[in-house]
Amino acid sequence: MNDPFDLNDTESYLRWREQKLACAPNSVNEFVIEVRDPRALTTNEHAALADCIRRCNMAIYASPMHDADTEIPRLLGAQFGLNRLDANWLAGEDGISEIRVFDNGTRQNYIPYTDRPIKWHTDGYYNPPERTIRGMVLHCVRNANSGGENQLMDHEMAYLLLRDENPQHIMALMQADAMTIPERVDETDGVRAAQSGPVFSLDANGDLHMRYTARTRSIEWKQDPATLAAVAALEGLLASDTPHIFKASMEPGVGLLCNNVLHDRSAFADNDPGKPPRLLYRARYLDRIANY
Ligand SMILES: [Fe+2]
Repeated sequence: MNDPFDLNDTESYLRWREQKLACAPNSVNEFVIEVRDPRALTTNEHAALADCIRRCNMAIYASPMHDADTEIPRLLGAQFGLNRLDANWLAGEDGISEIRVFDNGTRQNYIPYTDRPIKWHTDGYYNPPERTIRGMVLHCVRNANSGGENQLMDHEMAYLLLRDENPQHIMALMQADAMTIPERVDETDGVRAAQSGPVFSLDANGDLHMRYTARTRSIEWKQDPATLAAVAALEGLLASDTPHIFKASMEPGVGLLCNNVLHDRSAFADNDPGKPPRLLYRARYLDRIANY
């Protein structure tokens, strides 16, 4: 069987690699698609978004819909086969999280719900395997006065660049015990067991999944030279000026549809008393994007 992600199948990898690089966007504008209504895309809008996903696992839709309505990300996702929302205990009742600053309660202890920067990661890296996050929609209702931008990188491109650098990095990052989230005790949730897993893994149908955080607290890397070298190479890549890292600043009505690609967020400030604070909706799915 041809498998580009098999380290023993160099021929398939080189074919996939050539295709991947040929299709890769050169600027964020190549994967921004104007849409009239994300809840009900036209055939052309759907096809244009699907084409971006095919090329780089992500697409940004830009719409004139500024309403604070969780149906916008939900119905957008459903048109791409995203249906199984991950039930996050902090999320709203309908399974879609409000990402905004919470000044009190448990949520202020979690960086996404503050105005602080968030380092490179994929979503749900601490989840057990049965709750692997494969798809995501991040919809902007209101942006911040300043900051709050995202950097984005196709995780397949990260794989490619690391494998080009040294295939041993891929081997190390595919080890089942490469990355461990230690056991922790949570006021609300009780004890969460330690969660070990690979950084790169393949889904049942052969798609590449990535589990990663650049956090250095509450994370344990396997202490062998190969893993530490691979992690250093990945950190170096994400800090580099590679043209495959894109910057996006989302305006109201704009959203990201993706196969849980690598992303970060800069700090932001909402210091205009006349303007309501930043609000994003985040929908995380067990499904990978289909229908393309
Ligand atoms: Fe995230």
